[in-house]
Amino acid sequence: LVLRGRPRDLAGRKVVVSAGGTREAIDPVRYIGNRSSGLQGYALARTAVARGAEVTVVAANISLADPAGAKVVRVESTAELREAVLAASGDADVVVMAAAVADFRPATRHDEKIKKTDGEPAPIHLTKNPDILAELGERRRQARATAPDAGVPSGAGVPTGAEGAYPKVIVGFAAETHDVLANGQAKLARKGCDLLVVNQVGEGLAFGTPDNAATVLVAGGDPVEVPFGPKDDVADAVWDLVAARLS
Ligand code: CTP
Ligand code: CA
Repeated sequence: LVLRGRPRDLAGRKVVVSAGGTREAIDPVRYIGNRSSGLQGYALARTAVARGAEVTVVAANISLADPAGAKVVRVESTAELREAVLAASGDADVVVMAAAVADFRPATRHDEKIKKTDGEPAPIHLTKNPDILAELGERRRQARATAPDAGVPSGAGVPTGAEGAYPKVIVGFAAETHDVLANGQAKLARKGCDLLVVNQVGEGLAFGTPDNAATVLVAGGDPVEVPFGPKDDVADAVWDLVAARLS
């Protein structure tokens, strides 16, 4: 599979991409969710395969054809996404958190369908979900503090999957409706990731559409603008920056 003569600059690299949006059950038939289609995540997976990577996609509630050549792990909730991403990222070179992760979940899940009554409905109490991206960044920070030589590019002789291994490049996504760059810079620092792809959302932008524009914020570097175009272009811009950081 070759898409438009891409460089094979991810050959031999293990890449994990989370995609789609998590759902949190309220009762057996209802959930709290978001509008993520998975298009950007699958574009990342497809283009990474084309560039030679071994790709695992952790797919949350996506109704698109599987990206050819990638391993797909299906999940529904944030807890399931977290388990799958952490399991796959142990020996990965790169983790890209393109999934829209529900920030909150109902504090209790009703075992039976909630029925209408004559009175007002009971409120649904929410509790915070774990922040998977921040956890990946924090695990890497701690691993580097204890074993500063681990996790350097595998060409330098550190076996992937070794005790204390962690992704060399961690990429986050952020959808912002206002103060896009300021919010993005703060988020990049807070999450401890290397790249943060910032989209402006709202008014028909981004969700479910085949095209997108983005600004990629780079830790310790200048932001890269990706003009409005196919989500594959955003994906390739991300892989260009990832490949540069791996080499
Ligand atoms: N993310 C995550 N776990 C969460 C929430 C978000 O791993 N519980 C990841 C997303 O996959 C994305 C990045 O963090 O890569 C930024 O998500 P975003 O929703 O923009 O950031 P939040 O920290 O949740 O901040 P807020 O929603 O308040 O803007
Ligand atoms: Ca959020």
